[in-house]
Amino acid sequence: MRALVWILMLSFSMSIVSPMAQAADKPDWAFPTLDKVQPQVAPDDGKPKSAPGSSKAYTRAEIEDLYNPPDWYPDIHPAMPKIVANGVNPAVRACAACHLPIGTGHDESANLAGLPAAYMLRQIADYKSGARRGSGSMITIAQNISDEDNQAAADYFASLKPRPWIRVVETANVFKTYVGPGNKRLIHPDRVMEPIGNRIIEIPENEYRVLNRDPGVGFVAYVPLGSLAKGAALVAGGDGKTVACTTCHGADLKGVGEVPGIAGRTANYIVRQLFMTQSGERSGANAEQMKPVVAQLKVDDMMNIAAYVASLAP
Ligand code: HEC
Ligand code: HEC
Repeated sequence: MRALVWILMLSFSMSIVSPMAQAADKPDWAFPTLDKVQPQVAPDDGKPKSAPGSSKAYTRAEIEDLYNPPDWYPDIHPAMPKIVANGVNPAVRACAACHLPIGTGHDESANLAGLPAAYMLRQIADYKSGARRGSGSMITIAQNISDEDNQAAADYFASLKPRPWIRVVETANVFKTYVGPGNKRLIHPDRVMEPIGNRIIEIPENEYRVLNRDPGVGFVAYVPLGSLAKGAALVAGGDGKTVACTTCHGADLKGVGEVPGIAGRTANYIVRQLFMTQSGERSGANAEQMKPVVAQLKVDDMMNIAAYVASLAP
């Protein structure tokens, strides 16, 4: 009987061990998804919101309209093509809802400002073919966007100037956080501190403004003490542990030709891409070049690299 129990336990654990082991390695802090348990927060008062220096006002419902998201400061970006401002209801949500009219985006999405158009078109093609995963929204968009809209959106985001969007701070302790609606990491209303551990905690500089899709403020990435120096060593090649990033991403890591810039991009976005390239969730013809770069990296290495890369001028 006892032997049977053992065999059952063994076969059970063997069948689950490999996927579990992989899932355990996945840095959840870099892949924010809505927490099942949400803290009590004050309900919205229904009143229009404002933004400093903007004459506009939007209610919460207007801010959450993914086919007509707010444009608080129309004079800080070129005129948006219709696909960026409004998308095509229902299958293609407005790019500006998640990536903002200035392209810089939020922690859970991506900073597109100034990326090469050819690079972005290839990403959409990879989302469509299944070679790139990691975002259900992007896969739906890629499957449904027209070629003309795709080109117009890529040209628009490529024309935008990259701007500083992420402030990197080394620290031992951070505010306890939770992931709220829209997969946004926010400070827990208890406002208690906890050790940062081996995580990057990336949160809005100003929650009110970021939740209003106000592009006037960016994010702060809290990173462990010592991570910047460790990241700098890895970015230089890490004594053969990886390949010097400057070889392909340019001397200042701002990109060369169709190779995207990585300097000053949101830290957790960088962790996600390194992790998904290693796990195979991001493949595609050009992602092959990144395979030897990530092959030997541990999650902690990815964290240190991202801390350093995010701290550079975009
Ligand atoms: C509902 C939110 C949402 C909308 C709307 C949205 N995106 Fe995205 N986008 C994301 C997320 C999330 C990612 C991937 C983040 C990751 O992989 O970590 C992403 C990634 C991308 C990337 C890859 C960036 C890179 O550096 O490789 C491109 C290109 C892109 N989006 C273009 C668009 C375009 C063009 C539109 C409008 C037609 C659009 N997105 C609309 C959420 C969105
Ligand atoms: C051999 C050339 C090469 C080297 C070396 C290299 N990369 Fe890349 N990297 C690429 C290419 C090409 C892409 C674009 C892949 C694609 O089109 O899908 C890329 C993409 C990326 C991305 C995703 C960017 C985005 O917008 O989604 C990140 C992050 C990245 N690299 C980080 C690094 C880091 C960090 C290093 C150094 C440790 C590094 N790379 C070294 C060629 C390289």
